[in-house]
Order: sequence, then structure tokens, then C-alpha cells
Amino acid sequence: MGTQIKGIGMYVPPRVITNFDLEKILDTSDEWITTRTGIKERRIAEEWEKTSDLAKNASEEAIASARIDKKDIQAVIVATSTPDMIFPSTGALLADKLGLKHPMAFDISAACSGFIYALTIANSFIKSGQFKNVLVVGAEVFSQIIDWKDRSTAVIFGDGAGAVVLSETDSESDILSAVMHSDGSHWGSLYCPVGEKLRMKGRETFKLAIKNMESASKKALEEAGLTLDDIKLVVPHQANIRIIDALAERLGIPKEKVFSNIHKYGNTSAASIPIALYEAVKEGRVKRGDYILLTAFGGGLTWGSIVLKY
Ligand code: UT7
Repeated sequence: MGTQIKGIGMYVPPRVITNFDLEKILDTSDEWITTRTGIKERRIAEEWEKTSDLAKNASEEAIASARIDKKDIQAVIVATSTPDMIFPSTGALLADKLGLKHPMAFDISAACSGFIYALTIANSFIKSGQFKNVLVVGAEVFSQIIDWKDRSTAVIFGDGAGAVVLSETDSESDILSAVMHSDGSHWGSLYCPVGEKLRMKGRETFKLAIKNMESASKKALEEAGLTLDDIKLVVPHQANIRIIDALAERLGIPKEKVFSNIHKYGNTSAASIPIALYEAVKEGRVKRGDYILLTAFGGGLTWGSIVLKY
């Protein structure tokens, strides 16, 4: 018995903010943002739009593509650092917006690694026999916790949501390994106090991101009994194109084997991996039966990698 990503969906708000738009409100330039981050534009939610609204749109698509009845979703896990409220959970609000039938619902707070944590938890629920179908979402409205006067963070982040339905299956699909860590002693590298704005020590975070995604990825591959030659595509958290390229170099794989869509969306935190996976699947770069490696790093600090047979 395995587990399978049976359905996948994504949603980004229609409002596009380009680097040129940011030049008008900040002391920055398209040239700086492009060369230092790889980002050209990002999507920004309207003020009234909450994480659960973005999550709802992504989830509707994931559920439709999974071709399962909403009543068969027994749990909802939302990875987010921008919950609608402190409580109730965004998961509970999302389940209601989707019209689900009283599933278990909760949020995961692991910043940009949230989707990796959430997918692993969902997998454990299914493997234990507790549930058959779990909705796993990464969704964020970082635009609402950004200090729009701070050029070092305002140009990086964007809003969006990605969702998958993880289900019990008798096919070969499976999550083969999951490696996850945290180190709270470095909390000051990237944080957001309650009711305040996000702060990041970029350079410090940059180095730790590469080092920890590399080590978690190697460990996850070892635990799965695979090598990078077996992996069709690496789908990393989209934090910075220079981090993604450095990761490829440290792993000794060509850049083409590492997916990137950061130029379109910036860093969407917990939403970035499911959005990237969605686009990789739609572009035909991941097919059923392919081995893929997901890896993330973020505030906490948190980091982790998953090897799965899609
Ligand atoms: O998703 C969770 C994990 N997050 C990450 O992994 C993010 C990791 N960090 C990064 O991606 C990069 O560190 C940044 C993109 C945030 C910054 O790039 P950097 O190459 O590390 O630049 P820096 O912070 O060292 O700043 C270099 C210069 C500074 O000026 P001085 O001191 O050299 O005169 C900054 O003030 O660039 C300046 N700067 C900017 N200039 C134009 C910082 N932000 C901007 C900006 N536009 N937006």
C-alpha cells in the first residue's frame, strides 16, 4: 500500500507587481532584483483576500483533479505563516469554505518548510490507516506581513497557494523518505513577531539555506536508497535563483534538473513547493512513476527534504 499525490492545484492572485513597479516606491532597481534574486515579478493579494481564500481556489482544483468526493477528505492541513487569525486555524476556515464534511483540520507553522512538514504528516496519517484522503495546502499572503519600506525583504516575497490531495493507493506511488529538522537558536535570522512585520538577515539565511538543503537532500536520498541519477527533477523552495543554482552545483547536477519559477512569483514561502510542483507536472517535467526530490529551508530555522515516486 502506497500514498499518492492524487490531485494538485494552485492559485495566485491576478495582481502582478513587477520590479519596475517596485522601483517607483523603493530605492531599488530591476537590475539589482534580477541579478541578486532571479525575481522579475510577483503576485499580490487584495487587502481583503486572506490565506484561506487563496487556499480555497488551489484546493478546489486539487480536489477536482483528484476526482474524489469532498466528503471523502478526512483531514485538512494548511502550512502557512500568514494564518487568517491566531485561531481558529486556517485549516478549519478552509474546510468550511470548501464545504467539507467536518474533517480534522489544523495549521502547520514551519515557514518556508511548511509544505514538507505537512506532506510528511499527511503521509503518516495515511500509512497508519487513520485516513484515506488528506488535503495538504501551502498558502501565504506575505504581502500582508511585509514592511513595504524595507527594500531588503519587500522585493523578495509574493502571495500564492498550492494544494495536493494525498491518498492511499495500491499503485507504486509513494513517499520513500522524509528528512526534517529545526534549529530555534537561529530564530533571529528570519522572523515575524505577532502583529508586526517580517525581518530577515539575508546573507546569513542565504548560506544556511544552501548548506541545510544540500545535507537534508543527501540524507533523504540515502534513506530512500536512491542516488541523484535516479531523480528526474529536484523541486526546491523558491527563495533565490542563486540559492537554487548553488544547490545544483553542490549536489553536482545540471541546473536543468532543478525546477525554478521564481521569476514569476518570488518567494511564496510554504506555497512555493506545491506551486512549483504543479507547474512542473503541467509542463510535463514530472510524470507518474518519476522519482522527485523536494527540498525547503526557512524561518525557525526549519529545513527538510522528501523523496517521492510521483
Ligand atoms: O525563504 C526562506 C529563506 N530565505 C532565503 O533563503 C533568503 C536568503 N537571502 C537572500 O536571498 C539574499 O541574501 C538577499 C536577496 C535577501 C539579499 O542579497 P545579498 O546579495 O545577500 O545582498 P546583501 O543583503 O548583502 O546586500 C548587498 C547590498 C547592500 O548595500 P551595501 O551595504 O553593500 O551598500 C544592501 O543595502 O544591496 C543592498 N540592497 C539593495 N539594493 C537595491 C538590499 N536590498 C536591496 C534592494 N535594491 N532591494
